[in-house]
Parts: sequence; structure tokens; C-alpha cells
Amino acid sequence: MIPLFDITRQYKMIKDEVLKAIDRVLSSGRVILGPEVEKLESNIANLVGVKYGVGVANGSDALVIALRALGIKKGNKVITTSYTFFATASSIVRNNAIPIFVDVDKDTYNIDLNQVEDILKKEKIFGLIPVHLFGQTVDLEGLNFLKEKYGIKILEDCAQSIGSEGVVKGKIKKSGSIGDAAIFSFFPTKNLGAYGDGGLIVTNDKKVYEKSKMLRTHGAKKKYYHEEVGYNSRLDEIHAAILNIKLKYLDTWTENRINIAKKYAEEFKNRKMPLKYPYPKDKFHVFHQYVVEFEKEDDRNKVRTYLSEKGIGTSIYYPVPLHLQKCFKDFGYKKGNFPISEKLSKTTLALPIFPELRFDEVETIVSKIEEALRR
Ligand SMILES: Cc1ncc(COP(=O)(O)O)c(C=O)c1O
Repeated sequence: MIPLFDITRQYKMIKDEVLKAIDRVLSSGRVILGPEVEKLESNIANLVGVKYGVGVANGSDALVIALRALGIKKGNKVITTSYTFFATASSIVRNNAIPIFVDVDKDTYNIDLNQVEDILKKEKIFGLIPVHLFGQTVDLEGLNFLKEKYGIKILEDCAQSIGSEGVVKGKIKKSGSIGDAAIFSFFPTKNLGAYGDGGLIVTNDKKVYEKSKMLRTHGAKKKYYHEEVGYNSRLDEIHAAILNIKLKYLDTWTENRINIAKKYAEEFKNRKMPLKYPYPKDKFHVFHQYVVEFEKEDDRNKVRTYLSEKGIGTSIYYPVPLHLQKCFKDFGYKKGNFPISEKLSKTTLALPIFPELRFDEVETIVSKIEEALRR
């Protein structure tokens, strides 16, 4: 059995520290929005290289709250990619605004910034949500250019990319440091995962920071005095305490992920396998997922079935591009609008990757893929 993701291997390594932290929090009597959350907020802001952090209940809420803190209004248009997790786009709709989808780049699977600019030249657009998909940083230089030239709000979706890097004006920058705000998810499977839900907003803008804080507690700065109708979206102390511990290991875990990705790439290369796969390059990709692409849908499905028979977990991210989701049908998109996203939804497969995955397991996975393709 090789699972797609295994939370228990990591837990064994940090069990003592985690249990101590839980005990410390419970013994302190402060279980919601306390010192551990504050520490996490500044830890993540420091990691990204920005001023402020606001812990919230999950990454989906972080997107909704950040958009609202950035000043989105009913009917505003926000551009995003059709090939991402649902929450990226639902955050726009949850703000009564309109998602404008664009296709992705065929090699990086990240949002195609040329298509974004074509729209910006023609239409009035409130903002852009780029997603650093599977852990690979979107072209930060390109984002910075669009922000400066068109004055749009940029909210970076870093749910999958904590710690990933890019280059702007010759300087290495973290994903999340270019936008007006950025969000993170601490869903258990993420590169920095809690043992439950959690999310965080980061920003350099004091107003966005203060408004996000207000919105997470029912729109009240002062308890029971509500300036706006906000949300109940708080981060628990236990999760924050665990994340503060895990954060110390994030660099090592990221390095492990990159080494595993290298191992996959070398195995595929040596065996001359007929599939497309990513090859690591520094921290431009932190490999939240290791996603390969087959030429044909049949090959993908054949491999997936065979691996499952052999006890190897895989997943399809994402089987339905967002512009074709039933709940978004009123926005008027049709099959054929975004051919790359539509093709990727049929031909890509996510293989097991997590920091504790062993090289011999990678070899087994690759040889089983080879077997499946020969059948
Ligand atoms: C790209 C992306 N955005 C947003 C989210 C939402 O995060 P959460 O599951 O914490 O609500 C996720 C998580 O699955 C994600 O992958």
C-alpha cells in the first residue's frame, strides 16, 4: 500500500511535541484566537516577507474575507483560472461578484497571464486571483507588471504553495508577497497542514489587515458592536500551536518534496516513459502535488485503475474545469472555451507525494505505471 498522502508517518516524528503543545493550550484555558494564533500570524507574515497575518477558519473563508477586505462590490469582475480548486472561484461568487475565467499555460498549468492582459485591455476589472497551482509559483514578474500597469487588485491563492519562490526585478520573492493580499490553507493535506481546518490571510496593507480581522469576528472590532455583517471564521489555538511547531520543519519537508519530485523525474527519464512530468528547479515549485500528464485520457484512466489495484493511491486534480461546473452555468461558459484546462482535466494524474515518501516507493510507483502502459 502506498497512499496518495499519509498523515501518520509525520505524526510519529513530531508526536511528543504536538501532544505537549495541545496540553499547553488546553491547560492555558485560551482555546480560540489567543497567543498561538498571533504567533502563527506573525510567523507566516515573516515567512512570506509581508507585514500582517490574519488567521481564519479555512482557506476558502480566507479568500472570501480577503476579497471583501480589498473592497470588492456586488457585480465586480474578478479574473481567475478555470483549472484550480473550486474555492478559488466560489469566493468571487460568495461576494456577489462575477468570475471571469481564463485558460492556463500548457506547461505550468498556471493562469495564462497573456489572456489576463487581453481582458484587462478591454474591460473594467476589479481584481485577479492567480493560483500557484500544485505548488508552482506563477510568474511573479508578470503579476507585478499587471498590478503596476492596470492597477487591479491581486489576491494570490497560495493554498498549495507555502514557501515557494519566484523572481521580481532580479530579486527572489515568496509567493504571496506580490499581491495586495494572499491566502493560505492549512487543510491537513497541505504542505503546512493542521489536524483540522485552518487558513490565513497576509497583506502589507494595514486597512486590509484591520478589515479582515473585523470580518472574521462577525464584523465587530469591539465585541458586540457590529460595524458590518461579517463571518464566524476564527482559527483555533490548538491548530495554531501545532502549525507553529510544524513550521520549524517546513523547509526540510519542502526539500524532501523537491527531492522526491527529482527522483520521479529521473525514473521517468531513465525509463523513457511516454508522459509529461515536472522537473524541479530550486523552490519555484514546492510540489504540493506531483502531477503527470498522459497523451490520452485512456492511458490516464488505465494507469489509475492499475495503480489502484496494486494499492497505490492517485487522484485527479481536477476532473471538471470550473467554467463547466453546473453551479456556474449562468455565467455562460461552454465546452471548448478553455481547451487546455479541458484537456488537462482528462489527461493528468496526481501521484503520491509527501515528505516521508521513500525513494523505493517512488521506484515501485514508476514501475507500476510502466507496467500499466504496456498492457
Ligand atoms: C487552490 C486552493 N484554493 C483554496 C483552497 C481552500 O482551502 P480550504 O480547504 O482550507 O478551505 C484550497 C484547498 O483545498 C486550494 O487548493
